[in-house]
This record gives sequence, structure tokens and C-alpha cells, in this order.
Amino acid sequence: MKTIAVISRKGGAGKSTVSVNLAAALREAGQRALLADADPLRSSSEALRANSLAVVETSASKLFALATASSRSGGEVLVIDTPASPEADIVAAIKVSDLCLVVTRPTYLDLAAALKTIDLLRQLRAPGLIVLNQCPSPRQGQESRVVAGTLDALRFAGIPVSPIALRVRQAYQVALSCGLGVTEWEPGGAAAAEIRALTDLVRCRLRGESGILQPANDTLIPESVIHAQT
Ligand SMILES: Nc1ncnc2c1ncn2[C@@H]1O[C@H](COP(=O)(O)OP(=O)(O)OP(=O)(O)O)[C@@H](O)[C@H]1O
Ligand SMILES: [Mg+2]
Repeated sequence: MKTIAVISRKGGAGKSTVSVNLAAALREAGQRALLADADPLRSSSEALRANSLAVVETSASKLFALATASSRSGGEVLVIDTPASPEADIVAAIKVSDLCLVVTRPTYLDLAAALKTIDLLRQLRAPGLIVLNQCPSPRQGQESRVVAGTLDALRFAGIPVSPIALRVRQAYQVALSCGLGVTEWEPGGAAAAEIRALTDLVRCRLRGESGILQPANDTLIPESVIHAQT
């Protein structure tokens, strides 16, 4: 079984959104995926109350036991939604995980928080992938200045940036309010396409492969390409 921690020291970056959608997309891809809600605010469990997706309310101190039990009962992937603090809880999630997704919005303050999280991963020698969330869509094929600036600042972070960014889309908010991932709510939509592409990349990295969409720290895969692949 593989374990993925979705982390960010910044509140509201999109940890719960990414966790719920990743778990739903993994399930769509035929994986036995379990979502562990390790955030005392319980956003993921709250959102998925009516969903058949398996969610377990847990805490940092129980993660190791949960991962072991889930593996024994045939679970294939465990996705952990973490709180923004305290650091000890984030460290506990990192330590039980095979891959950590660092979720960050492309803003100055988020970037500062993301760089601290990246430092933590480097200290712990934990494999990570940075996922930009709530990015404005490109205009006339050009990324906005905030996105381009964020990619530039992350170029030497020492951790790859996912070439699939999640854009600001109402679908994420509406789907969650209906207790669904975007792949369940609007399977043919743009949000579903980018979540599937991100999920494929995550699965490749869990297998130790870089992925068909080669990660690069200074460029994002154009949306048209993501759509064409799904
Ligand atoms: N790509 C997106 N497009 C539009 N809205 C988004 C997107 N990602 C997240 N949101 C919205 O932003 C808000 C914060 O997202 P979310 O709860 O996932 O963040 P979080 O990092 O889990 O926050 P917390 O630190 O409080 O747990 C939510 O209202 C969510 O619906
Ligand atoms: Mg959350």
C-alpha cells in the first residue's frame, strides 16, 4: 500500500480539496483508496458525509496504526488530509508517507509558507511534489504573472513542481458542497480532466517513475493537452 500526505502550512491552500478529489479519482481509476482526515476541523469528512468514498477520522498519533491496518485489509492507497498546524502533526503525516503533495496557491504569502514546508521535507528526506492550486487560467496561452513568478521562485526548491496546476474553478466548490469529487460531479469537465491528469502523475511517482507528463519546474502543461489526454 502507498500513502500520500497532502500538506501545507497555510490555511485554505486547498489540502482538503486536493485530498478529496485525489481519493475520488484514484477510486475511479480502480484503486482501493482510503481518505484519512487527520485535520481536527474535519473538512474532508464533513464534505463526504453522503459519499460512499471511505473516509476515516483520525489524528496524527494514530496514522501509523491506521496505515498498517489499512494495508492489512487490502487498501491500495491511503490519502491523508492534514491540518495547517501544528508542525508535529504534519511531521507525523510526512513520516508515514511515500509521497507528500505540497499544496500552494500562487501568492507571495503562500509561497513563503510553502518554502518552509519544502524545507521540512528536505530535512526529513521525504519525497515531495509541489502542486499549485487556485491558479488563474492562462490568457492567450500565457500564464499570469503570479503563476509565472511562483514557478520561477520554486525552480530551485529542490522538489519538483507538478506540471499540472489546478485552476480556480467553481466546480471544486460546488462538487464539495454536494459531497463529491469533481470527477464524480462533472466527469467531462475541465476540473475533472486536471484532477485525472494530476492523479496519473501521482501514481507514476508512487511507482518511482517521473510520469508521461515530464515534471518541469518552469513550465506547466497547457490545459488543451490535459484535455486531449483524458
Ligand atoms: N482550485 C480551486 N478552485 C476554486 N476554489 C477552490 C479551489 N481549491 C480550493 N478551493 C476553495 O478554497 C477553500 C479552501 O480550500 P480547502 O478547504 O481545500 O483548503 P485547506 O488547505 O484544506 O484549508 P484548511 O487549512 O482550513 O484545512 C474552499 O472553500 C475550497 O472550496
Ligand atoms: Mg482542510
